[in-house]
Amino acid sequence: MASKAFLMTIMVAAAVAPAIATDYMVGDADGWKLNVNYTQWAAGKSFHVGDSLMFMYNTAQHNVIQVSGPDFKNCTNSGALGGPYKSGNDTIALDTPGRRWYICDTEGHCEGGMKLVVAVTVPGPAPAPAPSSQAPAIRSVVWVVASMAAAFLMIMA
Ligand SMILES: *[C@@H]1O[C@H](CO)[C@@H](O)[C@H](O)[C@H]1NC(C)=O
Ligand SMILES: *[C@@H]1O[C@H](CO)[C@@H](O)[C@H](O)[C@H]1NC(C)=O
Ligand SMILES: *[C@@H]1O[C@H](CO)[C@@H](O)[C@H](O)[C@H]1NC(C)=O
Repeated sequence: MASKAFLMTIMVAAAVAPAIATDYMVGDADGWKLNVNYTQWAAGKSFHVGDSLMFMYNTAQHNVIQVSGPDFKNCTNSGALGGPYKSGNDTIALDTPGRRWYICDTEGHCEGGMKLVVAVTVPGPAPAPAPSSQAPAIRSVVWVVASMAAAFLMIMA
């Protein structure tokens, strides 16, 4: 009984492993404030459906709203697409693919750098023209573990 439960745990873990979601703390230790370069912060990060953004900030000064691309460029708000978020500790789920633009709506703060654009993609095997060996290696380990578990379950049955 115990070994069956154990194997089920392994199989579930193997199935779930490739889709681990990431909670990104926007700005890392800086949080959401003036004079941080959020383009730089986002560079090199991959944002996937299922991940989330955490905005931490001083509520007396800042907030978060999701705006359109043109609004983002102009640092204007002609109609929020999300928010306003005002808790100072906002977790925003990236639940659909596509670009999302966030600014602080306080006068002058978007111009002061409080603007973040993320491109959200559907998680999956990266389209790799020159595939590194790591992803296939992980997949084959998952496959071997799952096969062994299946074989073991048949023996036990
Ligand atoms: C922020 O960083 C990006 C990428 O490193 C750079 O291109 C841009 O000029 C920076 N913006 C500011 C306002 O410094
Ligand atoms: C952005 O600014 C441009 C140029 O000033 C203007 O034509 C455009 O309507 C503005 N867009 C928005 C969404 O405010
Ligand atoms: C922020 O919110 C998350 C849950 O949404 C919570 O786990 C965390 O402790 C909060 N952090 C602070 C500093 O309030």
